Amino acid sequence: MNGNIGVGVLGIGGYGQQHLSTISTLQEAGICRLAAVADPLAARHAATVVALRSAGVEVYNDAELLLRRDDVQAVFIATPIHLHAPQTVMALQAGKHVYLEKPPCATLRELERMEAAQQQSGTLCAVGFQMQTHPALRFLKRQMVRGAIGQVRRVWSSVRWRRTDAYYNRSLWAGCFRVGGQPVFDGPATNALAHIVHAALFLAGARETEWAEVQRVRGALMRARPIESYDTAYLEAATAGDVQVQLAFTHASPVEEEIVLRCAGDEGVAELNWEGSVTLAPHGQTPQLHRFFHQSAVASTLNFLQCVHAVDTPDAGTISGGAAPDDTGIAGARLATRLGDTRPFLQMVNGALQSSCGIHSFAAAQVERVAADESHGYYQVAGLDAEMKAFGQGSANGLPLLSQNCGGRCLMRQSRRVCRFPQTQPDDGAGSESSH
Ligand SMILES: NC(=O)c1ccc[n+]([C@@H]2O[C@H](COP(=O)([O-])OP(=O)(O)OC[C@H]3O[C@@H](n4cnc5c(N)ncnc54)[C@H](O)[C@@H]3O)[C@@H](O)[C@H]2O)c1
Repeated sequence: MNGNIGVGVLGIGGYGQQHLSTISTLQEAGICRLAAVADPLAARHAATVVALRSAGVEVYNDAELLLRRDDVQAVFIATPIHLHAPQTVMALQAGKHVYLEKPPCATLRELERMEAAQQQSGTLCAVGFQMQTHPALRFLKRQMVRGAIGQVRRVWSSVRWRRTDAYYNRSLWAGCFRVGGQPVFDGPATNALAHIVHAALFLAGARETEWAEVQRVRGALMRARPIESYDTAYLEAATAGDVQVQLAFTHASPVEEEIVLRCAGDEGVAELNWEGSVTLAPHGQTPQLHRFFHQSAVASTLNFLQCVHAVDTPDAGTISGGAAPDDTGIAGARLATRLGDTRPFLQMVNGALQSSCGIHSFAAAQVERVAADESHGYYQVAGLDAEMKAFGQGSANGLPLLSQNCGGRCLMRQSRRVCRFPQTQPDDGAGSESSH
């Protein structure tokens, strides 16, 4: 069935290009129609602008002009993190449905403002954690809820994802803690690997469509690269269901490894490989591998547009995928990630910052800059790769190297500050952003 929902995009560089491509696929399937885009730096993307204009799409420098258009029902926001909260509030107040890129924002305070605006507007706000529509993740969650590995005790992952000068130089906000006074808090847990934090908390949740309730968080945030924010993090959350979620990420590594999330229960273990496979290994049984094929970006966008269609035209039936098979079991029924679903993610990331008492620099003697060429230089930390690998494979609990570097406030010792939830006054740790 034809939805033909009028859509706009804020931010056409970077990941905005992926949205333009996905929207084009879904436009060909008759599901939506791109009416306008806005980007103050649109001129940098001359070929895109020419192509959009020749297709009749209006190109603005100012997001407010796009939001005034009546033919835009839904807006995709793929702008820098510090603009997410103000632009989402503005779009919701203009009566638009919003698909907001992850992370939803940098702080819990911003999330509260956005939720209030969403409740007032009555329109939808989805957050672009596209892995949530992946059938591999949904399959594993279903199996775990049904007890495939018994009572779940631990969900963990360690990811070394090298990020070079080109990544940090692509935009002024990259690696920043604040821009113009607004929190950005850029770093692997907040940005590039945010999907893993959100998915780990989802797997730790007791019900099929719910995330775990975060009760206590400890963390250590470090930097090897001379940036304001962090490039290495250890985060640990204890949930109301008594699951330990432990995550270690770094961009300061020569390695870019595949992402694997591991789960351990009383009666077995399971693995989710980000490429789309699940291994279930109940104790005493031969491990079973399940593979899934999926186009995450298309499925996530489709899930959003199906929900918009259901809200705006409840009597018109559902729109089908056309370009994307609906094998997630959730499309059309519920937004894959609503604003409120991201609270555990923000609690874990903000809580780690509070617990870490700011962001700490590795000792200069431990850090080496490896300059492949002018734009592909990266940093590495002596011993970190081996520690991360051992932690990821389950043979280590925590990252001693990060603990040592936190001014003696050892992560795994009881003396370390623990951040507890719920908090009466959300504290985003902004007062403790930089400590050396
Ligand atoms: N879902 C994913 O897998 C995924 C992948 C990459 C990035 N992202 C997310 O996408 C968002 C953008 O990241 P990026 O790396 O593409 O950033 P970027 O800086 O490379 O691109 C942002 C774009 O927004 C534009 N912009 C800046 N101010 C604007 C304004 N006021 N109005 C409209 N446009 C404006 C910029 O000119 C630029 O074109 C971030 O939230 C990031 O986490 C998501």
